[in-house]
Amino acid sequence: MKIDGKAWRTIWLEPDGCSIGVIDQTLLPHRFTTRTLRSCEEAADAIRTMVVRGAPLIGVTGAYGLMLALQADPSDASLASAFEQLNATRPTAVNLRWALERVRTVVAPLPPGERVAAARAEAAAIADEDVAMCEAIGEHGLAIFQRLAASRPPERQGEPFNVLTHCNAGWLATVDWGTALAPIYKAHRSGLNIHVWVDETRPRNQGASLTAYELGREGVPHTVIVDNAGGHLMQHGQVDAVIVGTDRTTRRGDVCNKIGTYLKALAAHDNAVPFYVALPASTIDWQIDDGIAEIPIEARSASEVTHIQGRSPEGTITSVQLTPDGSPGFNPAFDVTPARLVTALITERGAVEASEAGLRGLYGHA
Ligand code: MRU
Repeated sequence: MKIDGKAWRTIWLEPDGCSIGVIDQTLLPHRFTTRTLRSCEEAADAIRTMVVRGAPLIGVTGAYGLMLALQADPSDASLASAFEQLNATRPTAVNLRWALERVRTVVAPLPPGERVAAARAEAAAIADEDVAMCEAIGEHGLAIFQRLAASRPPERQGEPFNVLTHCNAGWLATVDWGTALAPIYKAHRSGLNIHVWVDETRPRNQGASLTAYELGREGVPHTVIVDNAGGHLMQHGQVDAVIVGTDRTTRRGDVCNKIGTYLKALAAHDNAVPFYVALPASTIDWQIDDGIAEIPIEARSASEVTHIQGRSPEGTITSVQLTPDGSPGFNPAFDVTPARLVTALITERGAVEASEAGLRGLYGHA
């Protein structure tokens, strides 16, 4: 995607061939800055502190993190400890473990002297494949949006096609394009009159800060709403479809995504609004069935609930306290939407029912 006319990815190998560049997402939308990651520790810290975030991007950062660790020490012990260090940074998105395992599988059989180049190539391949998968998700989602828009009654044909999204599953959450936002970008570019309701997504406000930033840069009409507004809008016919991303999808199609996604799915179900989840294959956890029982939900700092970050009139990015001194906060970062509330999963291979049969139909016994 372009920022001020320049095409960006969220992560790249720097020209020196041995350090990694990323966009610092903690300062957006107020300040666009990049950071250079030179060690495994810096990569782990960037994931933990959400300089980079979003399931696919976490995975690619982890893959490059292993490359950085092997540059410092290509031994088996270094590979094992870097794997553990990176894998422990954020527990919910399965892409991280998937990408780390992919790099480890390639480099472990090699002599130490060949490991860095192999890790670099594998991380780059994961990044490139992510871009291709997200673009394909965009095409499949576009077809769905076009069909839904065309099937509206004649008196509504002139109105914008209203899509609601939660959190940020755009290009900033991936390497490029995004998952849930890819169909939106494709629809906008194809001339569909699309408008996006952007859930602010408390507590970290990835919707208000990142999704709104992305959509604004692409010129996609959008409106930021508080998280609690979605149900009301659906009751009044102002949402044609909901589309979100996912951090982990179980083999039966339960979907774990940013906290609050489940409530949107309930409201969509109650109002017969289609609820789509966009995901690349790297987000499917074939090892588990029951998302509510089996997916580890990250509990983040209560300070993200008790405080909020924004820009002061003087232009300083600052954090202010919302709650009374002494009131405790609790901050589960994700929730699980059961498969029965999902209209369809939109993958790079097409859209399917959220079920084991649906996923196996696309991926076999992957
Ligand atoms: O905590 P975050 O910002 O990493 O959460 C991101 C999400 O919940 C996204 O919806 C998910 O990772 C899918 S990104 C394509």
